[in-house]
Amino acid sequence: MNTGHSTLDHMIDRLTTQRVALGWAVGCVAGTPGLVMEIGLGKGRTYDHLRSLLPSRDILVFDMWARVPTSLRPDEDRLFLGDFRDTLPAATERFRGAVRLAHADIGNAQEDDEEGIRHWIGGLIEPFLAPGALVLSDRPIGAGRRGWEPLDVPGTQRWAYHGWRVG
Ligand SMILES: C[S@@+](CC[C@H](N)C(=O)[O-])C[C@H]1O[C@@H](n2cnc3c(N)ncnc32)[C@H](O)[C@@H]1O
Repeated sequence: MNTGHSTLDHMIDRLTTQRVALGWAVGCVAGTPGLVMEIGLGKGRTYDHLRSLLPSRDILVFDMWARVPTSLRPDEDRLFLGDFRDTLPAATERFRGAVRLAHADIGNAQEDDEEGIRHWIGGLIEPFLAPGALVLSDRPIGAGRRGWEPLDVPGTQRWAYHGWRVG
C-alpha cells in the first residue's frame, strides 16, 4: 500500500527529530556538571552528534556490539559491550549519581512487538543519574516511574521522542 510517506521519509523524520531533541537536551544541561550516557551505540550517529555538541563531557557508551568505524569507536574505558542487563548493573557502582544526561536509543522493530526493553531499562539507568538529570529516549522508558517527570520534547511532530527530569 502506498501511504505517500516512504521509508526514506520515515528515516528523515526520525533523524530530524533526534537532532532537534539532542540539541534541546544539551541546552537543558548546559552549565551543569556530569557525564553523558549513550545507551545504544548502533551506527554511532547519535553518539557522534552528542560528542560534537559536548566535546568536554565524558560519554559512557553501552551496546551489545560496536559495529562502527574506528573513528566512531569510543575509548575502551568508556565502552561497555554486552547485554544492557549485564553491562549497566556492572558499571553502576563506578558511576553512581554521576550522569547528567542519558540518551537511550534502543528501539527496533522486534521490540515493538515484544514490548520488552522499555519496561526494565529505566530501572537500570536510574542509579547512574545525578539529581535533576535529564533522560531522553526513543521509547517511553520512564512512563509510570516514580520521580520521572515527563517533559515536552521539541521536534516530535513527525516522530515520537520522550524526555524526563529525574529526581
Ligand atoms: C536504534 S539502535 C541505536 C542507534 C544509534 N543510537 C545510532 O544513532 O546509530 C539500538 C541499539 O541498541 C542495541 N541493543 C538493543 N537491545 C540491547 C540489549 N539488550 N543489550 C545491548 N544492546 C542492545 C542494539 O544492538 C542497537 O545497536
